Amino acid sequence: MAQLRSIITGVGHYLPTRVVPNCEFEDFLDTTDEWITTRTGIRTRHFAAKGETASDMAIAAAREALQDSGTDANDIDGIVLATSTPDNTFPSTATAVQAGLGISGGFAFDVQAVCAGFIYALVNANALLTAGEARRILVIGTETFSRILDMTDRGTCILFGDGAGAIVLEAVNSDGNPNERGILASKIRSNGKYRDLLYVDGGVSTTQTAGHLRMNGREVFRHAVDKLTGAATEALGDLGLTPQDVDVVIPHQANQRIIAATTKKLGISDKRVVTTVDRHGNTSAASIPLAFHAAKSEGMVKEGDIVLTKAIGGGLTWGAVVLRW
Ligand code: UT7
Repeated sequence: MAQLRSIITGVGHYLPTRVVPNCEFEDFLDTTDEWITTRTGIRTRHFAAKGETASDMAIAAAREALQDSGTDANDIDGIVLATSTPDNTFPSTATAVQAGLGISGGFAFDVQAVCAGFIYALVNANALLTAGEARRILVIGTETFSRILDMTDRGTCILFGDGAGAIVLEAVNSDGNPNERGILASKIRSNGKYRDLLYVDGGVSTTQTAGHLRMNGREVFRHAVDKLTGAATEALGDLGLTPQDVDVVIPHQANQRIIAATTKKLGISDKRVVTTVDRHGNTSAASIPLAFHAAKSEGMVKEGDIVLTKAIGGGLTWGAVVLRW
């Protein structure tokens, strides 16, 4: 029977102009460049300019993805956008992107799964495409985390950055052969019991403020290694694959030590892992599509490669996707 499969046909990115090196934090916090570099791997991050919004960055990334794919904006019939730092409480940032790109057909909606947001968006878009609901979907991750950081909290404010990444995901006919390109398997999971490990202390129905990010970093770290390894193993297992079959890992970029511990636990060589956390920091839902862009533009991934991508975020929410690039 004819099936559909989703393939990535284009990748785009946007990073704000302002680069913030670790030494800037030394001016107002009890921290050092050395501590941040050795404990996180982060050296610099980008912060959005005053007035620069999540949708502004998403539109720029989407335009680049459309160009990379050779797709006209009017041939897009869906936008699935992951963010935890939207322009407004409503309408969705996805609709602002739709308007900004001059698209008036199809659908646009936001997904909120914090740092796992892009994985959730990808899984949702894939489900819509393989169900025949759409032919081409822009899947976007965009964040302005600098707006929710408590700049007096050295345990969190040094970790995050702003940016956006986008892909064009397209449904193509498939024979169901795993050697074809496209999304092959996925797992998304959450456990609300762990909500207080990583959260924002404000919101519409509680404080009527945006609030600030709060995190028990040590606990999140522990869950991250365990849950990312589990989701990755399960998704690969569905395909009869093992971590040794993975050509390239494109992980969420939260902390170099989490990336290293997870790949070590999976038994995958560091050489096969795409890393951007050193220059982007943790850009939450934007980190994976930004890393997709880096992997593609730096020649780290080539057509036919088995790619494992995975993320964990507040909720806790987590997941993994296996695809053939
Ligand atoms: O995207 C998903 C969400 N986020 C994450 O995945 C982040 C997960 N967690 C982490 O990346 C790490 O836990 C952190 C980078 C946040 C912290 O690293 P750690 O090795 O777990 O440090 P720690 O929290 O155990 O703190 C060790 C020490 C503490 O001092 P004491 O209590 O030992 O005296 C902290 O107060 O380091 C101190 N510390 C700092 N020192 C200098 C915490 N932040 C800083 C800082 N500069 N910026």
